[in-house]
Amino acid sequence: MLVRLGLAPALLIALLPYLGRQLWLLLRLTRLIRRQHRLVPPFPHGLWGLVYRSIARYQQRGRKERKRQVRFTRRFREAANSVPDALVILDKSKRVEWANPAAALLMNLHWPQDDGRHLSEVFEHPGLAEYLDRGDYARPLEATPRHNKTLMLSLRVAPFGERKKQRLVVGRDITKVYHLNMIRRDFVANASHELRTPLTVIAGFLESLADSALTPPGHRRPLVLMQSQTQRMRHIVEDLLTLSRLEMDDRAAQIAPVPVPVEIDGILADARALSGGRHRIEMQLDQNLLLLGNEAELRSAFSNLVLNAIKHTPTGSRVRVIWGKGDDGPEFTVRDDGPGIAAEHIPRLTERFYRIDTARSRASGGTGLGLAIVKHVLNRHDARLLIASEVGLGSVFTCQFPAASAVRRDAAAGPQSLTAGVPPVRPPALPASGS
Ligand SMILES: Nc1ncnc2c1ncn2[C@@H]1O[C@H](COP(=O)(O)OP(=O)(O)O)[C@@H](O)[C@H]1O
Ligand SMILES: [Mg+2]
Repeated sequence: MLVRLGLAPALLIALLPYLGRQLWLLLRLTRLIRRQHRLVPPFPHGLWGLVYRSIARYQQRGRKERKRQVRFTRRFREAANSVPDALVILDKSKRVEWANPAAALLMNLHWPQDDGRHLSEVFEHPGLAEYLDRGDYARPLEATPRHNKTLMLSLRVAPFGERKKQRLVVGRDITKVYHLNMIRRDFVANASHELRTPLTVIAGFLESLADSALTPPGHRRPLVLMQSQTQRMRHIVEDLLTLSRLEMDDRAAQIAPVPVPVEIDGILADARALSGGRHRIEMQLDQNLLLLGNEAELRSAFSNLVLNAIKHTPTGSRVRVIWGKGDDGPEFTVRDDGPGIAAEHIPRLTERFYRIDTARSRASGGTGLGLAIVKHVLNRHDARLLIASEVGLGSVFTCQFPAASAVRRDAAAGPQSLTAGVPPVRPPALPASGS
């Protein structure tokens, strides 16, 4: 028969059972894998056994990895659930994806019930939707939730995930700190207010006494001293009241384009009067650049910086005021070649009553509140104060405003320098510190 069929077909027939078994094993394996079955011994002999064993090993490794991930996720959830802050994860369209139990307590946001709802739908707050869309989360949003009006929350947002499209919202209960801060603020405001009237009365009487012909000559000197100290107290009270007013809310009210070059002219007149010709005062102003902001507040901040440069530098110092477009937005800069400030003082300069040399600051009529006022004003304008200084070389105080606050009077006109022959100066590359 073999002879009649020929060799090849005869071999094929002989191999058929073998090929059939191979095919069957392959199909079985494919089916097991497709149905995600676990491969368990006994495994077939030979090459297929090797394949089965290798796949079984992979499966085991995968199972271990999955278990590890599940354990990790569970531990992470447990940790997130025991955090006292509200944690909410939003998807890229700002819809709730997950929240911890504290979110129910603090933000009235229940997960999984509120899954998929827009955050501003669940946690109603007038500024929230805009805050989330703005994308600038440098400053937290303070909010009182509707369901519990006694609470004060600080909401912080951090972008995360793929291309930073998701948001992690952290809501912290700051009720206690907020109330303490209110008490402190009100106390300072009330105490300053209460001191104002008696000080006015004392100053009035001192003035009459100093002017009166009946005052014995020996009393004149103490009277002058009493007058100057009363004046100092009045300045402190006024500065404290200014700070209290600035603390009332986060953002400056009555925003309008402020003609900064005009303001600077006025400030420089005061500076020249204070200097009495002891300083070289220069300016370099972009006459066409105006600034969106509160005029009185900005004037007070700029004036503080310019007068500081006069007050805290010796005779012969050069003071330069620059107003123009910086790398990002408008910049107001005051630089001097005075004694400079040691690095360790720089981060603390904007603290209330912080002075490097208290006696000297007092003698120059300083209250130690000027830079605190500057910082508050700038915060309310979304601006930053940069202080760069080196002992022996001088100091540079720069107010950096956001690009959006620039207003051009006439886009066609370029910047012009009022001090002829003085090249434009950028703040030097000194060790800088923000505040
Ligand atoms: N241009 C400057 N050069 C050197 N020191 C300065 C300058 N500006 C401010 N300071 C220091 O910072 C301190 C705080 O400034 P400020 O808050 O305005 O208070 P003050 O009422 O003393 O001016 C000053 O007492 C002074 O020691
Ligand atoms: Mg000052």
